[in-house]
Amino acid sequence: MPPLRNDRLLRALRREAVDRTPVWIMRQAGRYLPEYRATRARAGSFLNLMRSPELATEVTLQPLARFDLDAAILFSDILTIPDALGLGLHFVEGEGPRFERPVRSAADIDALRLPDVERALPYVFDTVRMLRRELAGRVPLIGFSGSPWTLACYMVEGGGSDDFRLIKSLAYTDPAALHRLLALLAEAVGDYLEAQAAAGAQALMLFDTWGGVLSTAAYREFSLAYQARVVARLAASAAARELPLIAFTKGGGQWLPEQAGIGAAALGVDWTQELGAVRAATGGRVALQGNLDPIALFAPPQRIRAEVARVLDSYGRGPGHVFNLGHGVLQQTDPEHVRVLVDAVHELSAAYHV
Ligand code: CP3
Repeated sequence: MPPLRNDRLLRALRREAVDRTPVWIMRQAGRYLPEYRATRARAGSFLNLMRSPELATEVTLQPLARFDLDAAILFSDILTIPDALGLGLHFVEGEGPRFERPVRSAADIDALRLPDVERALPYVFDTVRMLRRELAGRVPLIGFSGSPWTLACYMVEGGGSDDFRLIKSLAYTDPAALHRLLALLAEAVGDYLEAQAAAGAQALMLFDTWGGVLSTAAYREFSLAYQARVVARLAASAAARELPLIAFTKGGGQWLPEQAGIGAAALGVDWTQELGAVRAATGGRVALQGNLDPIALFAPPQRIRAEVARVLDSYGRGPGHVFNLGHGVLQQTDPEHVRVLVDAVHELSAAYHV
């Protein structure tokens, strides 16, 4: 493998000195790009796109061809693991993901068997290998998974949800059954991230998209404990232990100081938080990734630059910051505004690293 020519992301995740703050964008390959929509149309569906290593590689690289980004993120989805568990994933146009066989009872949970991820999801690892060849050391490749709690949300609800009534009811009525599901998912997620590392991923991210819907006590018990289990599992893995991991709970700002103790190199921060205050509260134990409001990209360029400056200034001087949005880029975003953001980060951040 050729050496990494741009290692800003990996250095920042390890809180080492950098010349400029690295930047990448959650969902940087996606529907806001016309070239993505064209490739998706050729694939016929999102699932065909994700399951084809050639096409998934192509769309992963599309935002890098346009913008001066400091990382690539594997094009895939967090719902591959529930799919490998046999729940029958499909997408309903305009409505998002659906499972044909959701997990609703203790009996459903006890019927699940830990999948062999290498056999069930070969296209994911083939894509990682193909991407490393195509990237040829240009920027590092991020692999990812959903957190056990977030995967359980989709599996129990059968898709997205407004109130998470089914899974939260299960947490109150049969917590032991939910713990069995989360323990199985923590193992599967650990295997999955380890296999991505073995295939060539250079950093890892755990998306806890729905941790923020829990009470504090329930967050500790059902989300944070299983994030910690995944981190511990990877720390014991020869293939993965050198890789920095970013743990991101959307809506979890109030728990960041606790989350800083799970052993992750970095924490993702959503746009509701003041980065400087989070930096002080986490006391230099972790790097921080974030946290521009995705809606700021709907403002005119001068205002986007001002908001980028505000985020950089809030984090302040020194290493340990990875610039990103506070959540994924929206499909209605003008790609030219993403360029304004990426260029502003590189231009304005040098002053924080002298
Ligand atoms: O960041 C990236 O560029 C990598 C690609 C990526 C996708 N999904 C591609 C995708 C990543 C990291 C994900 C993770 C993911 N998937 C999450 C966690 C991240 C987060 O936003 O908090 C979640 C909750 C999912 C589940 C999921 N997959 C949803 C809710 C949807 C959208 C459904 C819809 O129709 O709006 C998907 C599909 C999906 N995953 C798309 C993309 C680009 C859109 C598919 C399309 O082309 O229609």
